[in-house]
Amino acid sequence: MMTEEKDVLILAIESSCDETAASVVKNGREVLSNVISSQIELHKLYGGVVPEIASRKHIEKINQVIEEALAEANVTLDDLDAIGVTYGPGLVGALLVGVAEAKAIAFAKNLPLVGIHHIEGHISANYIENKELEPPFVCLVVSGGHTHLVCVKDYGKYEIIGRTRDDAAGEAFDKVARAIGLGYPGGPKIDKLSKEGNADAIVFPKAHISDAPYDFSFSGVKSAVLNYINGCKMKGEEYNNADIAASFQKAVTDVLVENAMRAVKEYGLSKFAIAGGVASNSTLRVAMKKACEENGVEFYHPSPIYCTDNAAMIGAAAYYEYIGGTRHGWDLNAVPNLKLGER
Ligand code: KG4
Ligand code: ZN
Repeated sequence: MMTEEKDVLILAIESSCDETAASVVKNGREVLSNVISSQIELHKLYGGVVPEIASRKHIEKINQVIEEALAEANVTLDDLDAIGVTYGPGLVGALLVGVAEAKAIAFAKNLPLVGIHHIEGHISANYIENKELEPPFVCLVVSGGHTHLVCVKDYGKYEIIGRTRDDAAGEAFDKVARAIGLGYPGGPKIDKLSKEGNADAIVFPKAHISDAPYDFSFSGVKSAVLNYINGCKMKGEEYNNADIAASFQKAVTDVLVENAMRAVKEYGLSKFAIAGGVASNSTLRVAMKKACEENGVEFYHPSPIYCTDNAAMIGAAAYYEYIGGTRHGWDLNAVPNLKLGER
């Protein structure tokens, strides 16, 4: 008689920035629940994430979010095989809440504890809806805190091909949005407004770094937008916010597409994925899809709900780390500047 392999159920927790999230994931790819409590409305008042407020809100919400995730998945703590948790990078006070909670549950229930790198989570979001996707592939992680071009060599094995030298892509979106009065978070608002503008109206610079062809720099384009606005104001000229949004978005997207496609070719791979909050951007998705089609590359992307910070992606990553043997002890700590690939 064939014995069926036992399912692996993981409760995953994410609290690295302004989302308190918990999820139950089966065998790394089947999301049984995905609960996200966003603090965006609170941080909007301040034009960005206030770390101290984020930590306090995580403490208030985390138990309720976990209970909801278990209830929605129709499981109890006794059904779980492991606890996965983001332990870096991120805001230290925010990370600590998730890490302490995960350790408490794992200790109380005698469950294995698996710490996860936030970017590994974002990358693994692609496994949830693309059941056939397996490494190796190239992944572009673009979020509010990160812009990383990564070669996913195998589950849990990463080589960083390129990264931003200054602002993250999402950070640039947020700063430009603020400059044209759109408010926080700016990415989705620029995405929307750009549809009414002309992307060729203004030529903003696309930074390429000569000695590091896969690295990015977005502070130049951000400054160019601010200078353009100031220049118009000084000359008493009108400027069109939709044209600025569309032209800025094009400058950012073009660089992301160019570097990503060069990397896919250089590494001789046929699969490419995007991840992170900015991966929801409609212009970026269309441009990446087109570039992949032209280059004969298979294109993968998560749905918007798995692009933004969530715990299902941490559950997907935790599954592969768990079956690969990764275990953390009770001394697991929050590591705000954790490097991808560190254990
Ligand atoms: O991954 P994420 O939720 O959190 C971090 O780990 O940073 O990413 C948030 C970032 C913000 O900067 C937000 O403005 C940006 O993702 N973002 C977008 C879009 N949706 C969210 N940027 C451009 N276009 C979008 N549609
Ligand atoms: Zn993130």
